[in-house]
Amino acid sequence: MRKPVIAGNWKMYKTIGEAVDTALALKPLVANANHCEVVLAPVFTAIKTVADRLEGSNVHVAGQNCSTQVEEGAHTGEVAAFMLRDAGARYVIVGHSERRHLYAESDSMVNKKARAGIAAGLIVIMCVGEILAQREQGIAENVVRGQLTGGSSGLTASDLDRIIVAYEPVWAIGTGRTATPEQAQEMHAFIRRVFAERHSPEAARALRILYGGSVKPENIAGLMAQQDIDGALVGGASLEADSFAKIVNYKG
Ligand code: PGA
Repeated sequence: MRKPVIAGNWKMYKTIGEAVDTALALKPLVANANHCEVVLAPVFTAIKTVADRLEGSNVHVAGQNCSTQVEEGAHTGEVAAFMLRDAGARYVIVGHSERRHLYAESDSMVNKKARAGIAAGLIVIMCVGEILAQREQGIAENVVRGQLTGGSSGLTASDLDRIIVAYEPVWAIGTGRTATPEQAQEMHAFIRRVFAERHSPEAARALRILYGGSVKPENIAGLMAQQDIDGALVGGASLEADSFAKIVNYKG
């Protein structure tokens, strides 16, 4: 059984105080959510405080990014995966489309970040997804295959246990335009096939694949009803405790 993961990506929103307020408001609302892992990704500066305040609860913290460098060193402005772990994070998001498109992250950088996250003992949420023009040209699957292949290059079977894939079609992020559950399911099934071919059928069966892109309380149940959708990466609708709790508690 693949345990679903519902992760909130707070992007570059919230001061430390605001992040703590939202996290503490969320905590009791999702305290009975044993059906899934609940994750929040605040900005780096808020990770330690939010993780401390959530200690002992079922809500865990993620970094939104990490350095490609495994060791500490002269890399001004970077934060290593082991430093995220040190601050209380259990997960790290790598390869988010905003990182790929606004900060020119390549598949090889995403791969290095994933390896750094695994080496630090974090669970890595690796994002993939096509832009609208690629979908319209009929090359969405090829794009996603390339991102998966590049991103997971050189990972061992035990490394793969620590990888979660998030399929986030870029045209659905922050646009209010969600992929239909059928569109998402189709790509999730494709991702699982790529993992089976590239790695192993066992790794593919165990892989958790999250959907991201305008997930809301109104559409989560339809998405989660799909066979290959194992959770969600939620941006805008995770910023408020109430709406994120409704998504976490999609089972009603
Ligand atoms: P959104 O963002 O839910 O606001 O579309 C999703 C994401 O970027 O992870």
